[in-house]
Amino acid sequence: MAPKTKHFIVIANMKMNVIQDSYLQHYKNLSLTDDNYITVLMPPNPFIITLHNILGKDNVKYLGSQSIFSEKEGSYTGGTSIDMINNYISYVLVGHSERRIFFAENNTDIQKQLKLVIDSNLIPILAVGESSEDKNNNNFQSVIREQLSILNDIQTSNPIYIAYEPIWAIGTGDVADSKYIEDAATFVLNEIKNINPSLDVSLIYGGSVTENNIMDIYNISNVNGVLVGGASADISKFSNILQKIKEAN
Ligand code: 13P
Repeated sequence: MAPKTKHFIVIANMKMNVIQDSYLQHYKNLSLTDDNYITVLMPPNPFIITLHNILGKDNVKYLGSQSIFSEKEGSYTGGTSIDMINNYISYVLVGHSERRIFFAENNTDIQKQLKLVIDSNLIPILAVGESSEDKNNNNFQSVIREQLSILNDIQTSNPIYIAYEPIWAIGTGDVADSKYIEDAATFVLNEIKNINPSLDVSLIYGGSVTENNIMDIYNISNVNGVLVGGASADISKFSNILQKIKEAN
């Protein structure tokens, strides 16, 4: 395989699986970058500043948030405004299926969040993916197209990451096979060329990524990173994933 032209990005979406901030001390000695990869750590929002302090402010480029609210300020109980955290992070994840399902976020909310991220000069990661029902009913293309449609009036010269995360692969151990991921990535990238050709987009994959399958995913030519859920909240599993990529030639 031709060497990757860009650094492979390995994003740790710790979700609500790290519930003690003391656990984050384990991430202090991680190699956050290497010839082959860069890492982005996304702890739960209340721990962003803790992790920022642990890593030091020079490492803000390796920190991100799992979610923001779609408004900047106001009476939104429990919300996290981008302005509360933007000095401590460089990336924000929007549109994750768990936000769509458990927090009822729709395309309008997600587009507002995307614009807030871009206006704050941070790097967005937009997650898209089909459910098993969509897959079985051959609705893959229409569902993904609808999720990507929010990119239509986005204007930025900054990079945007699109995380293709089939819902049926999240937390199930049922990782999509390489051909399926490659075809999905091709579809997503072509679709974005139609919707908004001005965007600088990289495609990453998420769904049951582990140290056992990371190299299969790394070797897919149009995939430039991974969004790791469960395995990112376990320091030894996450370090092993990075180690495998480091050893790739
Ligand atoms: P798992 O790696 O636990 O399947 O989660 C994937 C995911 O949702 C990353 O955002």
